[in-house]
Parts: sequence; C-alpha cells; structure tokens
Amino acid sequence: MQPLSSKSAPVSLCTDPVADLNELINKISPDKVFLLTDEHTFLHCLPLIQGVKDINKEQTITIAAGDNFKNTEALASVWQLLSEKGASRHSLLINLGGGMPCDLGGFAAATYKRGIPFINLPTTLLSMVDASVGGKTGINFNGYKNEIGAFCIADMVLIHTQFLKTLDRDNLLSGYAEMLKHALIDSPETLEKLLAIKPDAISVELLAELVADSVMVKDRYVEADPLEKGIRKALNLGHTIGHAFESLAMKKNRPALHGYAVAWGLIPELKLAVAKKQFSENITKKTENYINNLYGNHGFSSEDFEDLFSLMQHDKKNRGDRINFTLLSTVGTPEIDINCSKEEIKSAIFD
Ligand code: GLY
Repeated sequence: MQPLSSKSAPVSLCTDPVADLNELINKISPDKVFLLTDEHTFLHCLPLIQGVKDINKEQTITIAAGDNFKNTEALASVWQLLSEKGASRHSLLINLGGGMPCDLGGFAAATYKRGIPFINLPTTLLSMVDASVGGKTGINFNGYKNEIGAFCIADMVLIHTQFLKTLDRDNLLSGYAEMLKHALIDSPETLEKLLAIKPDAISVELLAELVADSVMVKDRYVEADPLEKGIRKALNLGHTIGHAFESLAMKKNRPALHGYAVAWGLIPELKLAVAKKQFSENITKKTENYINNLYGNHGFSSEDFEDLFSLMQHDKKNRGDRINFTLLSTVGTPEIDINCSKEEIKSAIFD
C-alpha cells in the first residue's frame, strides 16, 4: 500500500488488493466481513479480489447497478441483510464499486448500529479520484442528488487502478471530468497538462498514471476542511449546474453519467467566473473547446431553464434563497459562496 493522503482520511494506492485487504482485515480485526457489490462489480471486479480472508458468498450483498438505485429501498435492503446476517458494531463492510456502492455502502456503514468500520475499494475512475475519497456518503432522495447523507471517513480507500480495465470509454471520460475539475482548482500547470492530452491518448494506462496526483488535489481540500464548512466547497466547481443537468436528464429518462454532467456544468461556471471574477476568457474558451470535443453538448434548451433553476435551488451550498457558486478568479484560486442571479446563470448556460 502506498499512502497518498493525510492521516485523517486514509487513501492508498494498491497493487495487490488481496494482500492489502488481508492486511487491513487483520488490523481492523472485525468479527465478520461483509462485501457490498453491485451487479456489475459482482461480475467484473469481484474476481480480482478472490482470496480475501473472511469474504464469502453468504456475506456478500449485491444491489442493482446505477445511480437511479442509490435510493432508500436499496439502502434499506443493505441494512436488512446486515441485520439478518448478524452484523455487529464490530463487523466490517467493504464497498466494491463506483460512486454508487461506495456512497450508499458508506452511508449504510455510517448508520448501521450508529456506525461500523468500512473500506472503499473504488472500481471506477470517478470513484477513485472523487466519490470514494473524503467521507461523503449518502443517497439520492426526492429527485435530488445526494440529498440524504453523512460525512463519515472510510477506514481506508484502496485504489487499485487495474479495475479501470473493467470500464468502457464513457465511464473513463466520466471520471476524467473530475480530474479536469481538480486541475482547475489546483494550478495552471496541472490544467495545461490535461488540456494537452489528445482525446485518442486518453487510455487506461495514462489515466492510471494521473490518478495519484488528482487524488492528492482532492485530499488537500478535504484535509483543510473535512466537513465542507468552507474551502472544500471548491470541490463543487461545475457541480451546481452539473447536478441540475444530471437530475433533469434523469427526470427526462435519458440519464447522463455524473462526470459528463459535471463537464457540462464546468463551462457555464467558468463563464460565470469570467463575468463576476474576471477569470481568463482565453482559458475558458480553451477548456470549453476541450470539453465540447470530449463530452459533446448537454442537449438542454432555454425552455428547460426553469426546471434546471429549480433543481439548483436545492444545492447544498445555498443559503436561504441565494444560489451559491464556487467560482475561479484564476486557475488554482477558487472563491466560494459567490451568489449569482437567475439571469446571470441563464445567460452563462444558454448565451
Ligand atoms: N465531491 C466533492 C467532495 O467530495 O467534496
């Protein structure tokens, strides 16, 4: 295990998940080990961790795959099975999957008997660089993303980049969008480096090389503000509008991958930064071209704006009726809690 992060939110790169999980299980010393997978990771990722001690069929819980199943029913089914199978407060839950099993499993672990230890073994690029790291757990509720949840730090996030080989290109690009976001809040050099990567060059091998640096950007913000009282909100760049795109796409029955929605959200949020924080127009244009090339267009029209705006009104960064954004004044210098008017938001998305 190669530690990547601060002690308060442990993340390690891993090349031998079986050996590392066995070591962690010995250290945590649980009375039982439970494994949470979704239908995809059960098929494609579980084979890569065969041989971990104390993991067995009986204590493997499998839920349906997909963000639309990150809901109260799936959560209740995990609580139910933990309870039926005799999980105690000293049992360990290992979450094997992308953002969905890690978020939902983390919340199940945070709440079952008021909290049991858990390990995240992220299998998607998105969950390696973002979702599984930093202690945000939860589920979607009432049509809103991650509406119910808790901050609860995993005992370990083990990043094994070989799992990336199980992903299709759309899912690789989805994770890459969060890496672009990290670059924007990190430094001009990091952003330049990513914008110089040609679409054809984006491969599992290249992404695996870039994961550690991206996780360390996130870790820096989490370490500074674990409970998102302040500067951690920088990690929400692109998400205020991105989550609205994602939720509306879901409502319209044409779900978009989270990272695609974030990439689409980054463009108007950079345009808001140009309008309100004198952020560079040149960098905005370059980033917009890069994103358009990789992710295409969000496909919404100005007729969708009222629905999008109403979704933004539920963003967790808001205070009262104000819609608060994280906006960049320069690359690497995010400013938080910047209020933008309805007209400013509409024009950033649709003009
Ligand atoms: N995904 C943003 C955060 O963890 O704060």
